[in-house]
Amino acid sequence: MLTGKQIKTPGTKIRGAATSSQGNRKTAWAGVLAITGVCGIVFYLFDRMDQKRKIGKIKQNVESTGKVEIGGKPWSLTDHNGVDRTDQDFLGQWVLFYFGFTHCPDVCPEELDKIAKVVEAFNRRIDIPNIQPLFVTIDPDRDTPKVIKKYCKEFSPSLLGLTGTPEQLENIRKTYRIFFSTGPVDENGDYLIDHAIISYLVRPDGSFADYYPKRVDEKKMIQQIEIQIKKFETEQRK
Ligand code: NI
Repeated sequence: MLTGKQIKTPGTKIRGAATSSQGNRKTAWAGVLAITGVCGIVFYLFDRMDQKRKIGKIKQNVESTGKVEIGGKPWSLTDHNGVDRTDQDFLGQWVLFYFGFTHCPDVCPEELDKIAKVVEAFNRRIDIPNIQPLFVTIDPDRDTPKVIKKYCKEFSPSLLGLTGTPEQLENIRKTYRIFFSTGPVDENGDYLIDHAIISYLVRPDGSFADYYPKRVDEKKMIQQIEIQIKKFETEQRK
């Protein structure tokens, strides 16, 4: 009996101690989670504000002139197979432009994934024209045609990557009002590029049709593109 009690008592104490330390740990974890959550929300809000600012700039450009001043100008670049391409090569096709960089950690892959799904949805249908997705790099130093080719293949066989000389890239960026800022280079030589996350739809006559920011999901994008296609076809029939 005595032995049993003696064993039991320290056992209870240990259990008690364990529970209290577990409690402390729980409180600590709750604290960590709360801090992480707050940081996440703050980061999310900043990101949203930043995107709003960038899209606002584009809207301003569109609205201040009353007429759309995006796209519709000649450009020339080199595709991921090393073939020279110009705007003329894509006349007669619907084109979806996206400007990004292959080292982008998650935003570009998410957007390109969305674009690939949207394009596939159209290209499966026979009642509607196909869409040619184009990826234009904003990071030509690291994004060589070879790198871009490999990257584009990860998303869709129809996604064509484009790069060019600094002048060629500057020209198309101006045409599509692409703003970006390169971040600091770390000890490994890596850097991030902060950029607007927008897809641009171009009509078969080379004119700009519409743009789709990050918040426009796959379903909405399909609906909105279809509206643009119908609109264009109605105009053509007049
Ligand atoms: Ni990106």
